[in-house]
Amino acid sequence: VLEVPEFEHLRYEVEDGIALVTLARPKALNALSGEVLRELAEVVEVIHQDPEVRAVIFTGEGKAFVAGADISEIAALSDVFVSREYSLLGQEVMNAVAALPVPTIAAINGYALGGGLELALACDLRVASVKAKLGLPEVGLGLIPGFGGTQRLPRLIGQGRALDLILTGRHVSAEEALQLGLVNRVAEDALEAAKDLARTILKNGPVALALAKEAVARGADVPLAEALEIEADLFGLACSTQDMREGTRAFLEKRAPEFKGE
Ligand code: CAA
Repeated sequence: VLEVPEFEHLRYEVEDGIALVTLARPKALNALSGEVLRELAEVVEVIHQDPEVRAVIFTGEGKAFVAGADISEIAALSDVFVSREYSLLGQEVMNAVAALPVPTIAAINGYALGGGLELALACDLRVASVKAKLGLPEVGLGLIPGFGGTQRLPRLIGQGRALDLILTGRHVSAEEALQLGLVNRVAEDALEAAKDLARTILKNGPVALALAKEAVARGADVPLAEALEIEADLFGLACSTQDMREGTRAFLEKRAPEFKGE
């Protein structure tokens, strides 16, 4: 049986293969203090080890998803090297989220600012509530994004649009975020919409989902020719699975597939 540690600032539940991580430090709009980051890293490790988990949703309690890194902790930074380590630590947590092998969705229920948007950017998909506000307001604090925002945002929406958000620091509505390609869906209830999306995804072959995610992630940082090689390698692997036998046979027999994830 998997040992799940007690968390102070987040809740962790798994239902029907979908893990729900709720950031729960509502008095500070779920701001990512060092302690919250540590718990986030821990829960991601738990998810990595839990074979029951087939998809993950991150959300926030109250009116915020996450309002950023904890500004009271950032205010105490001054030394270049210590501050650099702080950034690397936050990046490491976001990298661990991005490296989860199962599909991940940020259910952006409210403010997703700074480190909060960076957490959402580390997920595969983003669903925003109609009330959500998204942005990278760091320059207004004399800072720059430090948990991956200057890199993941332009990769997702392009440099021009990313620089608009990064240099103005402005908050965008869910509707504008959808137009920018920053979020995939807008809904009245982000969490319910994220669960629907997860259930739709989970009808597909589990091994194929992991391989598809791996192909996109590994291909993103290499030249096209090399990326296409990666795709061919993973396509080859997919074709050797029982899931592929079942999926193609079910289609030809005009019935729903029963994937076993092998
Ligand atoms: N860090 C620490 N505390 C925060 C916080 C943060 N990022 N965001 C909000 N809080 C706290 C507020 O200080 C306030 O605490 P008190 O009740 O003790 O005064 C409480 O949460 C509620 O916040 P507000 O009263 O400000 O709520 P509001 O509804 O008036 O405004 C908001 C909401 C627009 C989101 C506003 O809170 C805000 O602008 N927050 C900061 C957003 C921000 O700048 N994020 C970037 C942080 S830097 C970063 O993330 C760097 C990085 O890339 C790693």
